[in-house]
Amino acid sequence: MDNFTFYSPTYFVFGRDTEKETGRYVKRFGGTKVLIHYGGGSAVRSGLIDRIKASLDAAGVAHVELGGVKPNPRSGLVYKGIELCKKEGVDFVLAVGGGSVIDSSKGICIGACYDGDFWDFYKSDRFVEKALPVGTVLTIPAAGSEGSPDSVVTHEDGMLKRAAHGEPLRPAFSILNPELTFTLPAYQTACGATDIMAHVFERYFTNTPEVEVSDRLCEALLLTMIKETPRVIEDPCNYEARANIIWAGTVAHNDICGVGHAQDWASHSIEHELSAQYDCAHGAGLAVIFPAWMKYVYKHDTDRFVRFAVNVWGCKKNGTDPEKTALEGIACVERFFRSIGMPTSFAEIGAKEEDIPKMAKKCFDEINGDTTIGNFVKLGEKEVADIYRLALNN
Ligand code: NZQ
Ligand code: ZN
Repeated sequence: MDNFTFYSPTYFVFGRDTEKETGRYVKRFGGTKVLIHYGGGSAVRSGLIDRIKASLDAAGVAHVELGGVKPNPRSGLVYKGIELCKKEGVDFVLAVGGGSVIDSSKGICIGACYDGDFWDFYKSDRFVEKALPVGTVLTIPAAGSEGSPDSVVTHEDGMLKRAAHGEPLRPAFSILNPELTFTLPAYQTACGATDIMAHVFERYFTNTPEVEVSDRLCEALLLTMIKETPRVIEDPCNYEARANIIWAGTVAHNDICGVGHAQDWASHSIEHELSAQYDCAHGAGLAVIFPAWMKYVYKHDTDRFVRFAVNVWGCKKNGTDPEKTALEGIACVERFFRSIGMPTSFAEIGAKEEDIPKMAKKCFDEINGDTTIGNFVKLGEKEVADIYRLALNN
């Protein structure tokens, strides 16, 4: 196991009706004037925004609001939010929604404390050192941004989808009420589940030996997702299954299962070009990319893929032909994604073969001159293009 530090200071508030406590938590973490930031309407339609405003009013916390965040959030609304915060003297941003709303909020938090362009932190590996505090009320388990020190935004100039990182981006608090996820359509539920599993894959496929705690945590999270996702697709109001998924989503990405070993993240970079280019859901893009990535890299460490097949998917170990077991595991991943309604090929998300060279090149734009992505297997532009081609015909 490698040396590591682990600091995950978000205060998690879990369970029924917890959003009614929002005002109290904003106050506790120093907010006196709040920007309520939300998406395209689901949180308004469900009455959640009204409940949150009532809670802020009851706690005596002033607020302004800015809705309209789109999935794969864009820079334009972030700039608007920054201006609003500066004009109104906002000292706390409250994200009500999923990863897109939270990441847009984090972009606003960066820009509100910075004289330059907030995008400076997305186009370089410069860590964010100062930002307004952000709190979240999560409505979709997926991105894990409610506990992560990351924000992913797409700049409209060039449609570059890039991430910023830094400890100030970890939310001060996150409210996780599984009931708020009952209204999620099956497709969004499945996209979220895929993203959660992908966050585990990015950590599980590592070259660092002897990381049994992380390996076991990863396997437990994957087994949970395999059990609970079909249950909530069948019965969207199943509280216990929704509860397990929302907590799995947070644990999968606050890095508790990622410490002490190298992580990969190539598939996320490869996917981000798909969602930037075609505006598909991030989870759907991952369902297309991950089986292709696995087929491309499994020979690098067949034993790890055998362990994955046996411990996660219940495949029987073939003593004489480990490669067969490894491939069976990968086939299980693909079958599972299909069974929950995810696409697994390029055509299903409207992706085109002729865009492959452009996307493979763009993968390396504005990433500080690095010529490879990933760690398990380092991938250059050619290898990324090969993986896109494999995904054509999954
Ligand atoms: O906009 P509204 O109307 O709210 O609808 C949303 C949106 O259309 C809907 N939705 C959310 N909660 C709902 C609901 N509909 C009904 N009932 C509810 N309770 O779901 C749709 C998708 O929402 P979005 O926030 O886009 O989903 P997700 O949480 O998957 O976020 C995706 C974004 O997060 C980024 C992705 O790249 C993508 O841009 N990621 C962020 C990460 C991070 N910050 O750590 C890591 C991830 O790997 C990921 O890259
Ligand atoms: Zn993700």
